[in-house]
Amino acid sequence: MLPEWRCRVPYPDIPGLRLGLDRPDDVLMKMKDTRNLILVGPMGSGKSAVGHQLARALRRPFIDCDTELEARTGVDISLIFKQEGETGFRARERELIAELATRQGIVLSTGGGAVLLDENRQRLREGGIVIYLETSIELQVKRVRRGERRPLLAGAPDLPGRLAELMARRAPLYADVASVTVRTDGHRVRDVVDQILRQLSSD
Ligand code: S3P
Repeated sequence: MLPEWRCRVPYPDIPGLRLGLDRPDDVLMKMKDTRNLILVGPMGSGKSAVGHQLARALRRPFIDCDTELEARTGVDISLIFKQEGETGFRARERELIAELATRQGIVLSTGGGAVLLDENRQRLREGGIVIYLETSIELQVKRVRRGERRPLLAGAPDLPGRLAELMARRAPLYADVASVTVRTDGHRVRDVVDQILRQLSSD
């Protein structure tokens, strides 16, 4: 049984202490625990990329909530927002989270606003180990593309301002729901994955 992870301290990069992709068997052995690993964080925090590699390292299935929603509805996120508004999107997201959180042994990446509902936060907490990818506004600005998936950013004349506005409300919710926090600024995807694995496998 793995311990209850409550580490909120960002891990320093310690040369020679790379786990994960370099030594997957060690990690796999320690990760017999089949609790889901659930990624939360703002748009542009790298949830999908990190989730994908984390799942690969642990040989687990990876599910991205938005991709799953698009696959099930057959339309992209922006069309759901256009037709049903943010309320409609959140209702679909809530239903999907309720279902996916009951799976076992998956890596799940959630949309940036998934933490807004109390109900979602509770399900995510109960559904696995929640990992917050903490990311600065500057980095989010560099990473986000105002594409199909991000109607909340569409037409915002001041992108940093808009992202900061969203973060002001959401940052306490990410911190509240997560038991592991990892900083992503200045780290490559692979390094973020290593940091997560290190935190998960430390007793
Ligand atoms: C949203 C983030 C998006 C997507 C939707 C709403 C948000 O996901 O779920 O556009 O409220 O922050 P990403 O965080 O994967 O971009």
